[in-house]
Amino acid sequence: MFHPQGPTFAELAQQALSGTTQGYDLLAAKFEYTPFRTPDDLLDIVHDRVASQGTVARGVDLCCGTGAGLAHLKQICTEEVLGVDLSQGMLDVAQERLENSPGSANVRLMQGDVLDLDLGQHFDVLTCFGAFGHILEGEQEERFVRCVHRALRPGGRFVFITSGKPDPMSWRVWAAKAFNASIHARNAVLNPPFHMYYLTFRLHRAKALLESAGFQVKAERGLWQDKFRGAILVQATKD
Ligand SMILES: C[S@@+](CC[C@H](N)C(=O)[O-])C[C@H]1O[C@@H](n2cnc3c(N)ncnc32)[C@H](O)[C@@H]1O
Repeated sequence: MFHPQGPTFAELAQQALSGTTQGYDLLAAKFEYTPFRTPDDLLDIVHDRVASQGTVARGVDLCCGTGAGLAHLKQICTEEVLGVDLSQGMLDVAQERLENSPGSANVRLMQGDVLDLDLGQHFDVLTCFGAFGHILEGEQEERFVRCVHRALRPGGRFVFITSGKPDPMSWRVWAAKAFNASIHARNAVLNPPFHMYYLTFRLHRAKALLESAGFQVKAERGLWQDKFRGAILVQATKD
């Protein structure tokens, strides 16, 4: 649908009709050819920024998918990088992609739910890209932000990309709301649920949740051009 090697419309529909984990297992082999994979144009700048602030020994990428963010982390970490994802299919593709990719850090992949993780204050940097839409609003504070906090050492950073307040007149916002409504309708009649919503964990809310959990939040605008010009880089440092 988006690329000759990408999924067809029917395959995407089948993904949406499956639960989140099974849906990504089905999509894994073609995921790199979808627009849901975070583009390297975005990730290059994030990791340049992170690396410019000093050596990073250990990094973790939550909801790592096929390894878009991990491949960058591997190049800036000196010791270890960990990728966590629900879908074993996505992790298998990540494993293959990362085997011969540049960087010297040791790579580990773990199948698991990022809402249940306890990584023991081990990491200097934690990233998460393209996945906030899978985390329900009610789980962002109690489970997600707490899990991020637990994974970082004091002074460690949670690094991610988000956007600001949506323009209520924009057709994109209306399309996103219509998409969200269709997912709610789907989940009212089908099990297991497929959770994927747009317009979540935007700067204002993310900042409030992170500050109340004990992070200092710094947001940088204007790092990207053209279609990514609204993107905001957030670095939240654990007290
Ligand atoms: C749109 S993909 C993004 C993948 C990658 N981060 C990227 O930017 O290309 C979302 C990923 O989040 C994973 N995921 C969703 N909910 C999750 C959860 N609760 N715990 C772990 N992984 C999750 C999915 O399996 C999928 O691989």
